[in-house]
Amino acid sequence: PAAQIGVTGLAVMGRNLARNLARHGYTVAVHNRSYAKTESLVADHGDEGTFVPSESVEDFVASLARPRKVIVMVKAGGPTDAVIDELVPLLDEGDIVIDAGNAHFPDTRRREAALKAKGLHFVGTGVSGGEEGALNGPSIMPGGSRESYEVLGPILEDISAKVDGTPCCTYVGPDGAGHFVKMVHNGIEYADMQLIAEAYDLLKQGLGASAAEIADIFRTWNEGDLESFLIEITAEVLSQVDAETGSAFVDVVLDQAEQKGTGRWTVQNGLDLGVPITGIAEATFARALSGSVPQRTAAVGTLPAHAQAFDVTDREAFIEDVRLALYASKVVAYSQGFDQIAAASAENDWAIDRGAMARIWRGGCIIRARFLNRITEAYERDADLPLLLADEYFTGAVGNGVQAWRRVVSQAALAGVPTPAFSSSLAYYDGVRAERLPASLIQAQRDFFGAHTYRRTDKDGTFHTDWSGDRTEQPA
Ligand code: 6PG
Repeated sequence: PAAQIGVTGLAVMGRNLARNLARHGYTVAVHNRSYAKTESLVADHGDEGTFVPSESVEDFVASLARPRKVIVMVKAGGPTDAVIDELVPLLDEGDIVIDAGNAHFPDTRRREAALKAKGLHFVGTGVSGGEEGALNGPSIMPGGSRESYEVLGPILEDISAKVDGTPCCTYVGPDGAGHFVKMVHNGIEYADMQLIAEAYDLLKQGLGASAAEIADIFRTWNEGDLESFLIEITAEVLSQVDAETGSAFVDVVLDQAEQKGTGRWTVQNGLDLGVPITGIAEATFARALSGSVPQRTAAVGTLPAHAQAFDVTDREAFIEDVRLALYASKVVAYSQGFDQIAAASAENDWAIDRGAMARIWRGGCIIRARFLNRITEAYERDADLPLLLADEYFTGAVGNGVQAWRRVVSQAALAGVPTPAFSSSLAYYDGVRAERLPASLIQAQRDFFGAHTYRRTDKDGTFHTDWSGDRTEQPA
């Protein structure tokens, strides 16, 4: 039988996507560079559905019904280009190549344009949810032509996670839009993780609580507004005891966070667009700081702290303060991430529906959370909302926690406990709501040393003051 869809690249993600498709009743062509992986997939999971294995790319392509739909699930970068180059000569007009890896969106734009010139559709697709999600229902963020979505969309929606019966998959936008949105998803993932880590550290240092005690706090939090996959797994991780030492597992893990690069891409793009994504940036830099071994070695025990220990008199009140600060900081990170999506969407004519993005992130993906419903509702109220924080629900929810947030950040500063994401998010909140910012002074300084000009509050136009001369002002 002609296969309805194919998967090439059968490492764990590709393998699980293929199994997910087969379990949903699709006939799935499967291919891998080394045939052994293809054989083991069919041997181990052949009973889950119908797989059509091929050893050569030629046979793989020939086994597919037209228009052919080929999911490429290999390493981002060179390996993806190599596989595409191999496939393209074998394909015919109207066929669809789907890159479901974590590609950088400019690569996706380039590949989409190249394939379009050959009459082929290229669909750069974000897939989130790790191995588990790929198998049981990920969040899927496909970009590319609308035409290709008509054919491909129903299949992807079918295998995606569902929340209240709604698929966690929708058409995102043209060319690189899908991978762009997945990139921002990962940036937000970094921010979420860093905020949770800061909350953990505050509870640990403020209360002198054990990992197991903090696990219970997170478990309670997971029953409220913070309910999310990352809070849930945090409780699991904190409950884990190391078999070898009998210590809390988290205490034996080396405190140097690594990354594969999607957070860095998000921050680089934030800088390119001029969008302040400070939560994501602080989270990414916090990982970098943790891995700055020579600097940390030089500083530990050397830099004076002059800190005063936490003075927590009311344990429950402190926990509630940290919870509120975490929630408020999280809203800031999402608000910034959605600003970044809006800016990129405008720049590239992607017309991305932000409410729909929040909707497809409710299930399947790493940042899945109850609170994403609130974001969807906010964009339903106003699709052009200029600032998520300014939505009526979020002004209320964050406003409720502002005093707690200030207490937590100031206590942490006094105690010498680093909270880069908590505190920069609060600084963003205060910055964006300030009636007047000291940016006026920056503009004046720029005009002083570089004649860079400035605008005035009281009239239109651009001006320059003759700082080195008589200090009179002229229109520039
Ligand atoms: C997902 C994850 C996935 C991967 C991250 C890890 O959405 O399923 O985000 O893409 O686990 O890329 O990223 P780092 O290695 O950079 O932390």
